[in-house]
Amino acid sequence: MKPAPAIAIVYNAYEPRPTATGERLSEESVAEMAQQAHEAVRSLGLGVTLVPLQRSLLNFLGRVKELAPDALINLCEGFCGRPQWESNVAGIFELLGLTFTGNASKTLAICQDKFKAKAVLRAAGLPTAPAQVMLTGDEPLELRFPLIVKPNNEDASLGIYPESVVRDEEALRRQVRRCLDNYKQPVLVEGFIDGREFNVSVMENGTVTPLPVSEIDFSAMPKDMPRILGYEAKWFEDNPLYQKTPPVCPAPIDDEMRVRLQGLAAAAFRTMGCRDYARVDFRMDAKGRPFILEVNPNPDISTNAGYARALKAAGIEYAAFWGTMVRNAMERRVVHDPADAGAR
Ligand SMILES: Nc1ncnc2c1ncn2[C@@H]1O[C@H](COP(=O)(O)OP(=O)(O)O)[C@@H](O)[C@H]1O
Ligand SMILES: [Mg+2]
Repeated sequence: MKPAPAIAIVYNAYEPRPTATGERLSEESVAEMAQQAHEAVRSLGLGVTLVPLQRSLLNFLGRVKELAPDALINLCEGFCGRPQWESNVAGIFELLGLTFTGNASKTLAICQDKFKAKAVLRAAGLPTAPAQVMLTGDEPLELRFPLIVKPNNEDASLGIYPESVVRDEEALRRQVRRCLDNYKQPVLVEGFIDGREFNVSVMENGTVTPLPVSEIDFSAMPKDMPRILGYEAKWFEDNPLYQKTPPVCPAPIDDEMRVRLQGLAAAAFRTMGCRDYARVDFRMDAKGRPFILEVNPNPDISTNAGYARALKAAGIEYAAFWGTMVRNAMERRVVHDPADAGAR
C-alpha cells in the first residue's frame, strides 16, 4: 500500500493592515479556516502540518522545503495583507513544482480584476451587469442609473457600503472619487441589479458539480437601505446589517431557476478556468434574469461560511470535501526531472 500523502496547509497568518477607511483585510478568519481544515484532514488519517505565511516569504518557503509535503492545501488569500498578491503566491508554488489544492495563479489573477473577469464571462455569452471602469472620476458616464460603485480589485465587500449604490450623477461622482482616494485603484461602476441575491458553490470531483443554491434573505432589511451585502453586513456578527442578511441554503426557488443558476455557475467555473472549487455570486433582476456578479476562486471555506453550508446541504462532509481536494491535487502532481527540481 502507498503511504498516505503528507499535507501542508499554507495560509496567511494575521498581519494587521487596515485600509484607509479602517477596514481590516480577511487574514484573521483565514487562520481559523486553516485550523478547521487541519482538523478535517487529520481526521482522514493524513499527516498534516500548518505553515503560516507571514512577512518573510523566504522563511516560509524554507519551512515548506524542509517539510517536503506531497501536496499543499493553499488557503493563502494574499501576501502582507494585499489580496492583489494572492495569485503571485500560487504562482510561486507553480514555479517550485509544488502541487496544491484550489485555483491556479492565472484564474486567481483574472478573477481579482472584476472588470476583466466580466469581459471574459461576457465573451463566453454569460450574463453580467453592464459596467465601466473609472480612473479619474471625470469620464463620461456610459450607463443608466441606479448604479453601484466598487473598487475593481478588492474582494470581501471592501469599499461596499449603502452609499455605494448611487441614483444620480452627483452621488456617483462623489462616490467614485471617495473610492479612488481610499483604494488607489480603478473603480468599477456597474448597473445596480435590484433583486434577489444567490450564491452557487461549485466543486470539482471528477466532474464540475454545482452545489445547492444559497440565497441572501433581504426581507428584514429596512426599506430605506439598499439591499446589498456590504462590508458590515458580511463580516460583523453583531452589526444589524449582518443579522438582517441571513443566508438560506437551499434557496427557496423552483427547479427551473435552480437548474438555470447551477448551469450558469458551472459554465462560469469552466470559463474562468477554475479547478477544485469556486463560488459564483449572482443577482437577479425584477424580470427574473440572473446576472453573474463575480466568480470567487478562493472563497471562504471555513465551517460556518457559505461554501461549507452548501456542502452540508448537498450531504457532503467537510472532511470528505478536503479528502477530494487532496486527491485532485495529487492527480495533478507533475513529477519533474530531478536535475530540474534540484535547481528550485
Ligand atoms: N451590480 C450589483 N447589483 C446589485 N448588488 C451588487 C452589485 N454589485 C455588488 N453588489 C452587492 O455588493 C456585494 C459585494 O459585491 P461583489 O461584486 O460580490 O464584491 P466582493 O468581491 O467584495 O464580494 C454583493 O454581494 C451584492 O450584495
Ligand atoms: Mg462577492
